[in-house]
Amino acid sequence: MRLEFVNKQSLISVALRKDFHSCKFSSSPQVAKKLNLGDEDFVSKLLDRRWALASPETKIHQIKVSRHHKHKQAGYFGNLSFKNNSNPLLGDGMLENSNDHASFYVVRDDLLHPLVNGNKARKLDGLLPLLEDNSITDVVTCGGCQSAHAAAVAVSCAERGLNSHLLLRGEPPETATGYGLISMIYGNATYVPRTLYAKRETMLANHAEFIAGSSGSVVALSDLFEASITNHVSKKPISAQIDAPRLSDNIKKVSIINEGAGDAAGLLGTIRLVHYLSRDHIFGKNQPLKVVVDSGTGTTAVGLGIAALCLGLPWEVTAVMLADTFDGYRNLEQRLVTEFLRFCAFSLCAEVVDRLNDGLVHWLERPHPRKFGNVLKGEVEKCQQIAQQTGILVDPIYTLAAWELSTTLSQEEVGGSKIVMLHTGGTLGMFGLAQRYKPFFRLSEKV
Ligand SMILES: Cc1ncc(COP(=O)(O)O)c(C=O)c1O
Repeated sequence: MRLEFVNKQSLISVALRKDFHSCKFSSSPQVAKKLNLGDEDFVSKLLDRRWALASPETKIHQIKVSRHHKHKQAGYFGNLSFKNNSNPLLGDGMLENSNDHASFYVVRDDLLHPLVNGNKARKLDGLLPLLEDNSITDVVTCGGCQSAHAAAVAVSCAERGLNSHLLLRGEPPETATGYGLISMIYGNATYVPRTLYAKRETMLANHAEFIAGSSGSVVALSDLFEASITNHVSKKPISAQIDAPRLSDNIKKVSIINEGAGDAAGLLGTIRLVHYLSRDHIFGKNQPLKVVVDSGTGTTAVGLGIAALCLGLPWEVTAVMLADTFDGYRNLEQRLVTEFLRFCAFSLCAEVVDRLNDGLVHWLERPHPRKFGNVLKGEVEKCQQIAQQTGILVDPIYTLAAWELSTTLSQEEVGGSKIVMLHTGGTLGMFGLAQRYKPFFRLSEKV
């Protein structure tokens, strides 16, 4: 049985900690001007593979932010209101649209799948074909009790005839709702005491071995990813490069997906998304952008940063820290970059490699930091206002944070960089919240 884990790197500590309200960056980890050192060829080769999503396309909306004066009653966003243009001018048309009012774009990845979050669909985009191409039968992963990641793995595996085994932190809820419910319906969900869950790597490895049994095998996802890269060089079919036993119906071949798909293979789909967004008819390659995303593990933000740098785009990636500390996110960034470079460094120029190691993402505090998962008074009403004025659903745990930052930046950047929020999804998260925050869901009729 073969099992491999990527070692945690220890790392750079303090750097940039900026207040969310004043989002001017003096020392930027990501560059604000065109780098001229991007490697489109490298990215094209990396993306020349099989995908789960038929196309990288996504809808893009533009939100106009207006400030009303005295006569308007102040709402939960003060006197701001939002209006959605669901068919904005993109490509060259964006330059004509001379930023004379505050606005931001929303990449509607929340619309990719009814049950799978947008950023999960991206993470699984490159990862699922690796599992399929290598005859993996079973997948083991883990997450919190309302884990969008676990639900996404369960649904996506079921769609492909793979078995999913989901280790969920804590005690089973009295009533399953939201992502917890979806995980239980589509996958084999097991609730794990917090003390065991604290040692995730051991927990995942033990469970994978248990599922594989004595006749099966556990294959590291990093091996599958590496083989898929080597395959470009050697042109051998991937399956011929992996030491795979012949499978019969009852022999299991198991792979582990880290919590939140925090694996190098999980970066591929996000790189594909950025490649798509940088096409001339979307945002192009020359327009300075500030890309805003909400962060749980931080994997999506790191994927955006790696892609922007490899493509030489003048894009800054700004991530709102929701579930970890600044140091935790920097560690994750370093680990993923190291893992990515382990497989890809040989194809990249030294300057790109240096810049990847220098730091990619602006990690920002939420204005009202709180223990992860907590909702504050007035936040459900903010979601209600956004939904009623734009038709877009955000949730108070994740995407509201990105919306708030995009709103702030759009007012600061009138005439400057365009602001682009990646809507990561989270719709079903709303359906798990009312159970825990009953009073917040007794909403007034008007916002
Ligand atoms: C809506 C939403 N946004 C963001 C995230 C976090 O993404 P990442 O772990 O890549 O930072 C999640 C994770 O579950 C999520 O559900």
